Amino acid sequence: MARVLVLGAGAIGQWLGGLLAWSGAEVTVLARPPHLEALRAKGIRIEGAPEDIPLRVLSSLEELSGETRDFDWLILAVKTFAVEAALAQARESGLEPTRVLTLQNGLGSEDLVAQAFGPERTFVGSVTRAVACPAPGVLRPGPRGGLALAPLVPRGQSGDLSERLEALGLPVTLLADSASMKWSKLLLNMVANASCAILDLTCRQLLADRALFGVEIRALLEALRVMEQSRIAVVDLPGYPVRALARAVRWLPEALAFPLLGRKMASGRGDKPPSLLLDLRAGRARTEVDWMNGAIAREASRLGLEAPVNRFLAHTLSALARRELSQETFRHRPEVFLERLAASALPAKGDAEGGRRSPEP
Ligand SMILES: NC(=O)c1ccc[n+]([C@@H]2O[C@H](COP(=O)([O-])OP(=O)(O)OC[C@H]3O[C@@H](n4cnc5c(N)ncnc54)[C@H](OP(=O)(O)O)[C@@H]3O)[C@@H](O)[C@H]2O)c1
Repeated sequence: MARVLVLGAGAIGQWLGGLLAWSGAEVTVLARPPHLEALRAKGIRIEGAPEDIPLRVLSSLEELSGETRDFDWLILAVKTFAVEAALAQARESGLEPTRVLTLQNGLGSEDLVAQAFGPERTFVGSVTRAVACPAPGVLRPGPRGGLALAPLVPRGQSGDLSERLEALGLPVTLLADSASMKWSKLLLNMVANASCAILDLTCRQLLADRALFGVEIRALLEALRVMEQSRIAVVDLPGYPVRALARAVRWLPEALAFPLLGRKMASGRGDKPPSLLLDLRAGRARTEVDWMNGAIAREASRLGLEAPVNRFLAHTLSALARRELSQETFRHRPEVFLERLAASALPAKGDAEGGRRSPEP
């Protein structure tokens, strides 16, 4: 029987761990309160599944004590900013997984996994199904999307993971190129995410405003330019025709893009508030924006390209999360947001060479 250890029991860790346990795998999850107690008491409830799914729950990897540590899969389901610490824990406790699956949105966690466990063992997953956790131990998967899976190095074999999930009705796409998959997922994640968090607006509200919609398009074009220059292809992901999105962003005239694409983007996002807005509302000092818009800006600068919109979004949201800026600065104030964005892309005073001024909001 496949042995799976899930590090991080939030929405994604519980959902995927629950599905794999349901498929017959021997699943252990490392959980923190308040999920820990709920999972120990009654297992995982996935809405739509016929019954609660029991699984083994640890509060610390030390509880593995004398057991073998050679899991078939180690699934890393913490947020991006918690990956480094979770990997350090995994290494310290002597885990020897055959494969490690990293599921974070944004860019970079796959490199940390490869450093910790080696590139041959590293698999990258992009989850395109929105999963909410309305109460500890209770998962509410959205109706659309699935999982895309790619090895970090070519020809890596993902064993029976995809068959197990597909047998439960989850669409799984196996891809050869993890960079294409991650960047294509990033194109989906970045739409109406950082801007909604900064402005405290819903996706529908944001995308109904023509000027704010224009900002989203500029941010997407910056990302697409980086992908083009790095020869990273846009690929479709389960439930999401990302190539059609990229074509529309590149080629639709503005007059058509706003009514057609804006509505499509808003419906694609559904009613779940964007993840960065949820993080900010939860009072987290860190969000994943640095691995999303921030990573695009860094990669652009490495390639000698400009990405002022992504740079502004990453800096502004990080400053809000760290409370260096009051949330009232931009809350429901698109005019202030647009003014600061325009100012952040201007050449610095006295910078005759045309260099860019500091992106601070
Ligand atoms: N939810 C979705 O719909 C969705 C969809 C696609 C992709 N993703 C991506 O999947 C990743 C996970 O997202 P999520 O929504 O599942 O996040 P989440 O609900 O915040 O779950 C992460 C869990 O990991 C725990 N954790 C953090 N560090 C840990 C450690 N060292 N040991 C044990 N537990 C630890 C956290 O505990 P604390 O809260 O106590 O820190 C939290 O319970 C993110 O990168 C996200 O972008 C999510």
